[in-house]
Amino acid sequence: MKTVTLHNKTFEVFIPDTEISEIVHSMANQINNQSAERPLFIAVLNGSFLFAADIMRKITIPNAEISFIKLASYQGTKSTGTVNELIGVNQELKGRNVIILEDIIDTGNTLEKIVEIFRTKEVASLKISTLLYKPDAYKKDIPIDYIGKSIENKFVVGYGLDYDEIGRNLPHIYKLKN
Ligand code: IMP
Ligand code: MG
Repeated sequence: MKTVTLHNKTFEVFIPDTEISEIVHSMANQINNQSAERPLFIAVLNGSFLFAADIMRKITIPNAEISFIKLASYQGTKSTGTVNELIGVNQELKGRNVIILEDIIDTGNTLEKIVEIFRTKEVASLKISTLLYKPDAYKKDIPIDYIGKSIENKFVVGYGLDYDEIGRNLPHIYKLKN
């Protein structure tokens, strides 16, 4: 499948599944080599469900834990600017070494909200890991610890990322065809 049509928009393959798995593997290696004691991975739903599932299988730290939060900022192909917390974390976070797993960092609004949430919980450390990053769209100063791939400022779908809730199941990452 070189192109797909979702809600009347056509997308073409941008990052094939083989490249995604190489990227994920290399991010896991970096985290395995640098991680602190008893890391708590927090995957940001919905977008990062496949990324989280794949990277966790490559994490070799024996006492690693995973949990989930659900945030939403997008409507269609545009960021709305406000980020809503739909599901929070119920674990004790105080003193934990938290590693956030994000599918994509665009404007950074979601990331800012995440940092705000975790700052109040007195975590021991907070690291940010994102599969994709759009440097030209990023408006914040928050450092990102692990970046899978920096991409141009284009809308992408697949491998967890959606266009109005569809396309998350696609194995490759696609970009809007123009
Ligand atoms: P930000 O808050 O603008 O950084 O956007 C972050 C969230 O918006 C991500 O976690 C995604 O869920 C969504 N998002 C950003 N860019 C894209 C995209 O190109 N395709 C699909 N979802 C995106
Ligand atoms: Mg997301």
